[in-house]
Amino acid sequence: MKIVKMIVMPVSFLFGTVDFVFSAPPDFQKDIQPLMTRYCVECHGSNKPKAGIRLDSYDAILAKSRKQSVIPGEPEKSKLLMTMTGQAKLMPPKKFSPRPTADEIEMIKDWIKAGAKK
Ligand code: HEC
Repeated sequence: MKIVKMIVMPVSFLFGTVDFVFSAPPDFQKDIQPLMTRYCVECHGSNKPKAGIRLDSYDAILAKSRKQSVIPGEPEKSKLLMTMTGQAKLMPPKKFSPRPTADEIEMIKDWIKAGAKK
């Protein structure tokens, strides 16, 4: 068993698996933006966004305003997350499908917690 670990560890390190397991924070472009596109942008894009909230770019999501939906480092105050977990008005709305999975929601939480970097 030990010998297997000695081989597997360095190999997976090379391929970045260890990085993943020890959780490098999610990356906006690679991890977060695709989720927004899939679940939110249909209603929160540039064309008449619902509730005046745009979620189609990093700058729009982080724009300072009363409707700012992500507060870096503070997932519990970020509407973007709270709506997905049902702590605020449920988003995407009930009838909308597909819906984000628990893992995807967790990833968004991790991203916000880690400072919501670009
Ligand atoms: C099918 C259309 C639709 C989709 C998809 C959708 N929304 Fe919304 N969203 C709305 C509407 C409509 C409102 C305004 C609701 C209201 O105020 O009654 C809204 C409001 C919001 C608000 C403000 C809520 C508040 O309490 O102030 C946030 C934040 C939000 N959406 C985030 C999201 C996120 C994040 C996603 C993707 C996970 C998403 N929405 C997907 C239609 C949508």
